[in-house]
Amino acid sequence: MAGSDFLSLRQNERELKRTAHILNIVAKFGMRSVVERIRIGEKLHLKVGWQQKENIEKTTEKARLRMLLEELATTFVKFGQILSTREDLVGQELADELAKLQDSMRPFPSQQARHEIEAQLGKSIKEVFSSFDDNPIASASIAQVHRAMLKNGKAVVVKVQRPGIEETIREDTQIMHYLATMLDKYVPEMKHWNPKLLVDEFERSIMKELDFQREAKSAIRMRDNFSGEKGVYIPMVYEHISTSRVLVMEEARGTRLSDVIRSNLGKYDKTLIARRGADAFFKMVLEDGFYHADPHPGNILVMKGNVVCFLDFGRVGSVDKELAMSMLRLVTFAVDNDPRGLVMQLSRMGLIDDGVDVEAFTEDMADLLDTYYSRKLEEVQMGHLLRGLFSVTDKYGVRSPRAFTELSRALFILEGVGMALNPKFNAFAEFRPYASRAAALAYSPKRLETIIRDNILDVEYMVKTFPGTLRKIMNKLESGEMKVELVHTNLASLAEDLDRMSNKLSLAMVLAAMVVGSSIVIGTSPTLGRVGFAISFVLGLWLAVKILLYRPND
Ligand SMILES: Nc1ncnc2c1ncn2[C@@H]1O[C@H](COP(=O)(O)OP(=O)(O)O)[C@@H](O)[C@H]1O
Ligand SMILES: [Mg+2]
Repeated sequence: MAGSDFLSLRQNERELKRTAHILNIVAKFGMRSVVERIRIGEKLHLKVGWQQKENIEKTTEKARLRMLLEELATTFVKFGQILSTREDLVGQELADELAKLQDSMRPFPSQQARHEIEAQLGKSIKEVFSSFDDNPIASASIAQVHRAMLKNGKAVVVKVQRPGIEETIREDTQIMHYLATMLDKYVPEMKHWNPKLLVDEFERSIMKELDFQREAKSAIRMRDNFSGEKGVYIPMVYEHISTSRVLVMEEARGTRLSDVIRSNLGKYDKTLIARRGADAFFKMVLEDGFYHADPHPGNILVMKGNVVCFLDFGRVGSVDKELAMSMLRLVTFAVDNDPRGLVMQLSRMGLIDDGVDVEAFTEDMADLLDTYYSRKLEEVQMGHLLRGLFSVTDKYGVRSPRAFTELSRALFILEGVGMALNPKFNAFAEFRPYASRAAALAYSPKRLETIIRDNILDVEYMVKTFPGTLRKIMNKLESGEMKVELVHTNLASLAEDLDRMSNKLSLAMVLAAMVVGSSIVIGTSPTLGRVGFAISFVLGLWLAVKILLYRPND
């Protein structure tokens, strides 16, 4: 047996069973050949059934993958969902397909929820809550949410993890690591997906999401950032009764945004809600540098007075000032239809490698911007535009940094929500005041230092592109393709100049001859010599004045 293939799989009964189950489902979705090629069945002595779903060939590969993950549930649904936010890794099309994954699961028995809460808090339910609702209000792959009431009468929600979810996820990720290694080895056409990297990245994200203490901290930080804002609300976290697996929060009373979107009642001011949501998002990104990375309608409630309440801080992103300014500049160049500026900005961000054909890249950017430029700004979607930019960079093998694609994705989600609420919604309009504030900040004396640094980056851009340009010139020279064209612009005046110059030169030579001649004759014929010197002197003086006072247009 090839040892290294099995290092990552402990091969206990449970894991083998789960692996066989996974392979069965993979085959079911018409990927039998993949299972056969990684020869995993024989290696692990697994019996794999080859039952294929009817008509499965008719669906696209991407849709099949999404359905497969849905059927595998739990960890795999999370895997798909997390990857749907990582366009930088999976590309736009697959990301969009994976975004359709629904994360709702059959609830687990409330008895188990109570048990888990008690074990986590080290106290009985009765000691902490005066009432606890056994019917969950939501149930997803990681956790479910129950309403309850504290002893002091405050209404809360309790988000409690599925019992054993951490072990399940650990086990599944272990199997995923193993499968990724095998795919990498035996299915070369999968290489461009980089399955091992996908699983690594997934593991990192899911472990973060499993830690509710982290989520609690994020919620608290967000609440703090919005403490002064009237139109936005973030529920309070009861930290002293929260653990890494149980999160107790104040219950926000309101309507799910998805219901508000569907509602035809005049009760809600949808335009105001959309504006508040977008304003909040831009504040998070441009002022706080800390944003909700998953602002879909399931994570937003509308409270009394059209107050927008954000929930679920399992996925957050951070933006430093530099990143925010870079994003701002990208959008500005794009809006100004300035592909060169845009490419320069991408280069400043370190995205343009030496190998990239800057000219072709700029042309593609120009084409992209043209498709937007013919439209009015009110018709352009910002998230769409940014994603478009990154798909062009993708084409050139330039991997956009994760922070950018995550932020663009979040903006894209938010913009979709805004437009669902108000078809006329336009992120640019909401963005303007924040952009000008951020730009004002950009030119305040405090930022001078950064500007200087940025200009150094301009030089860096030149230095980066110069060798490439030079190389091209050298190649052309070598192959003899290089022609030099001279275009004369004012040859007539050059001829005149030459004429005048030669006159002065001959005069100088005559002068020199006269001086030498006069010196020779002065001994034998002093008068002639003196006359010669006198004439030389006058001529010399005239020549000297002419030279000293020379002006080009004379
Ligand atoms: N503080 C809260 N107040 C009211 N409802 C909440 C609160 N927190 C969560 N919920 C409800 O529970 C659902 C799931 O919570 P969420 O934190 O989004 O969990 P998940 O991470 O599983 O998506 C939300 O869509 C919302 O309906
Ligand atoms: Mg949620």
